[in-house]
Amino acid sequence: MGIRFGGDYNPEQWPEEVWAQDLELMKAAHVTMVTAGIFSWAKVEPRPGEWDFGWFDRVLDGLAGAGIEVCLATMTASPPPWLSRAHPEILPEGPDGQRRWPGARQHFCPSSPVFRAHAVRLVEQLATRYADHPALAMWHVGNEYGCHTRQCFCEVSAQDFRRWLRERYGTVAALNDAWSTSFWSQAYGDFAEVLPPRTAPTFANPAQQLDYLRFGDQALKDCYLAERAVLDRLAPGVPVTTNLMPQHKPVDAFGWAPSMDVVALDFYQDPYVPDDHVRAGYVFDLMRSARGGQPWLLLEQAAGAVNWRRRNGPKPPGAMRLWSWQAVAQGADAVLFFQWRQSRGGAEKFHSAMLPHGGTDTRIFREVCELGRELAAVPGIEGTRSRASVALLADWQSWWALELDSRPSAALDHSHSALAHYRPLFEAGVACDVVPPDRDLTPYPMVVVPNLYLLTADHAARLAAYVRGGGHLVVSFFSGIVDACDRVHPGGYPGPLRELLGLRVAEFWPLAEGASVAVGGAGAHGGRADLWTEEIVPAGAEVVARFLDGELAGRPAVTRHDYGRGTAWYLGTRLEPALLRALLDDVRAAAGVAPVLPRLPAGVQATVREGAGGRYVFLLNHGCRAVEVPLPEPLRDALAPRAAAVTRVELAARGVAVLTGPGPEGGGGAAG
Ligand code: GAL
Repeated sequence: MGIRFGGDYNPEQWPEEVWAQDLELMKAAHVTMVTAGIFSWAKVEPRPGEWDFGWFDRVLDGLAGAGIEVCLATMTASPPPWLSRAHPEILPEGPDGQRRWPGARQHFCPSSPVFRAHAVRLVEQLATRYADHPALAMWHVGNEYGCHTRQCFCEVSAQDFRRWLRERYGTVAALNDAWSTSFWSQAYGDFAEVLPPRTAPTFANPAQQLDYLRFGDQALKDCYLAERAVLDRLAPGVPVTTNLMPQHKPVDAFGWAPSMDVVALDFYQDPYVPDDHVRAGYVFDLMRSARGGQPWLLLEQAAGAVNWRRRNGPKPPGAMRLWSWQAVAQGADAVLFFQWRQSRGGAEKFHSAMLPHGGTDTRIFREVCELGRELAAVPGIEGTRSRASVALLADWQSWWALELDSRPSAALDHSHSALAHYRPLFEAGVACDVVPPDRDLTPYPMVVVPNLYLLTADHAARLAAYVRGGGHLVVSFFSGIVDACDRVHPGGYPGPLRELLGLRVAEFWPLAEGASVAVGGAGAHGGRADLWTEEIVPAGAEVVARFLDGELAGRPAVTRHDYGRGTAWYLGTRLEPALLRALLDDVRAAAGVAPVLPRLPAGVQATVREGAGGRYVFLLNHGCRAVEVPLPEPLRDALAPRAAAVTRVELAARGVAVLTGPGPEGGGGAAG
């Protein structure tokens, strides 16, 4: 079937006569898959228990007739008005006790048994009716869980939280211990006294907040699992997915991935952020890593501008193609958009679509058709995989904990830090995986750990074992500080990493806003650092660079510790980008990590996907100048399969090349 191509299809916005035209134009655009029915609940069940599936049958039959696969939504992302009128208790509440009213979407409390019962009832209808429909290719459960309603703080949620806490801790004494409630007179005598962390006079208990984030994620996952259980029972064997947004905080993509048959992503690059493709690169690598390298689906992106930023930039010519190929280059087996036909009314009428208001004679539609044609021309990419030599650690538990209030500095930001550490690797053309701390790290010669504030002793032991076995590890400041209950590891910072790093941190010294210090020293790369400094006391580690001014002048800023057969580097400050790049280059050299292609011009991304049938090399020019890329071996142009093999490629600004060569087993080039 090849890389799936298409978008959200919301035909209920249009009279039926438009649907036939939709099918014709979808064929012209080489659409192979649509996600249908995401917001159709009110139309298939206009009144309680009164089902109207006739129109949707016709939609699915038409798609099947056109040979277009359907990723069929369970339709539960926006409950119909009659449901919230009959059961206002399904509406979510904010931490301030304010109800979130209907009128938009996702207005349900994830813990509401009433909502879940109605959702399950709807999914039973859908699964029974469409399990054997020829268009059905996979199920799309809900939609972007946690996008709008991240957590609910209502009384129903409070009860569900207490149940969750009982399961987690067993006794109220264990809860008191985990939450350090002996401080500020917070000790509970009974689970019944426990509340969600609603708006309080000042900082709420951090362990309570952390558990509420865990619980919120689980409550959303329970909604997903309840629907999934129906699908598994009534439509066994059909793959199940939901669209994740790992760039958002509430849903732990690593935690959800095992319960999905294939992971799917919604990602909207911002054309007004000059290098947003690096952020995309990080998220795409995370998606590919979520199920151990299994291809993933880009389920939503925009054909042009979105409508929800303050200023919504269109995608300039070639950008949509480039960023779509970027997803494929980083492991996607599907490129879909929100949405097929641009709405005339409603909240998203100024959001671009594959078929714009202006119709077929538009740049966007022409670019969409051309991309569909190109993707269809290279069917062999589907299912191929990549190998990475560097792993970047990411962990939702630590993200949640790091950004709670009452920390040494409120300026620490997980996403910013993850990207700062990822960027130099991306720009050096190194293949990265983004993995959770419980993943096997032995396949990676190098592992990078951005501020992993919450680190269990167990995970720290895995890092130590990795280095002892010969790994090269880079750890940034404010890592390994607290346990799973946000309690400081005993014995001084960074508790479980001290022996591995060969040092202790005596005192944190976060910098004032706008302040920076000089870093360098004999034989070291020199430059500036900001955000954070700390007093490092080496205990076996060698000093790589020192602070050159400020209160900590002369003290270590960067260290290196040979440990077992490997080495652990430690960064006690936020190095400016050039300095971090130089340091990571040194670590790469020590670890023997090479870029995917040598001599890659700046701004060009190179990736490789391979499978039994062959090898695909993707070259993506994110720069605004044409460049020439030398190839280490002759490769054929997969987009022009009759052309002879080449040893250099001209890439226009925003240009893309898809090249093929023999696969790992020496199989023939797979261009089709
Ligand atoms: C997503 C959502 C879509 C659409 C899109 C617009 O968050 O799943 O339904 O709203 O954003 O960018």
